[in-house]
Amino acid sequence: MSNKHLLSIKDLNIKDLNSIFNQADKFLSQKKQTKNKLYSQKNIINLFFEDSTRTLTSFELAAKQLGASVINMSVATSAIKKGESLIDTAMTLNAMNPDILIVRHNMSGVPYLLSEKVNCSVINAGDGSNEHPTQALLDALTILRNKKKIAGLKVAILGDVLHSRVARSNIYLLKKMGALIRIISPPTLLPSDIDKLGVKVFKSLDEGLEGVDIIMVLRMQKERMEGTFVPSEKEFFRFWGLDRKKLERAKKNALVMHPGPINRGIEIDSDVADDIGRSLILEQVKLGVAIRMAVIKKLLKT
Ligand code: NCD
Repeated sequence: MSNKHLLSIKDLNIKDLNSIFNQADKFLSQKKQTKNKLYSQKNIINLFFEDSTRTLTSFELAAKQLGASVINMSVATSAIKKGESLIDTAMTLNAMNPDILIVRHNMSGVPYLLSEKVNCSVINAGDGSNEHPTQALLDALTILRNKKKIAGLKVAILGDVLHSRVARSNIYLLKKMGALIRIISPPTLLPSDIDKLGVKVFKSLDEGLEGVDIIMVLRMQKERMEGTFVPSEKEFFRFWGLDRKKLERAKKNALVMHPGPINRGIEIDSDVADDIGRSLILEQVKLGVAIRMAVIKKLLKT
């Protein structure tokens, strides 16, 4: 990686991307990871200011499988609760000389800010509605392993794009790799800069899903909404939620993805989410560990 940090998909060129995918594939093909002594000297801190199940666990598992030490800073019980500022917390952690700080925050730009203040590498584990680079990497690896390519595939991103860092990172990454991206969303949930992102916007779900290879469904991110963006969840599901009938518009072998956590009956029907022939949702989680191992390895330059 040209950079010391992973803050944005924009930090990665095609060569970086392929080397991360190849490394993750290698980890996946090894039955058990033989722990490398080099990592036992490495310290990784997870600094999550927002709730997380899969990303936090997956970074922790990835670090442990490599043999590194990992600490999960619980913000709820930290000095932040006593009024310590974000930068002071980061500087305090930095003084303990970690090798990597993995940061999730509900404000866009926080990992960038911290990367300028600390000596170690910083990984963005999701900043506000800006980016979530490791999610896009694991999504791309999931597509590659199932479709054998990304270039030329029609990928529909469906739902609450406005609040989604997953959508933004995926748009940057999948475009770099030559996918044709369709955005399907009610107008109230479209980002204002969508025209600049090089995607095709569909305001009709049926048209947008016609002939696509992949459907990436997004969670309705209520915690980021100030005010009302959709009339009701029931109505949202009726018009924009993915169910078996709407899925028929896509290619016969189209696959369904979702970064999780899923809201059943709001953006996706259980019937589709749990269909092991169509849904890649659990495979995404599985590949997340391997991708994060590959990213950590690259940043540690081991
Ligand atoms: C995503 C996130 O936190 O941005 N979840 C995740 O990391 N797997 C998506 C979401 O919360 O909807």
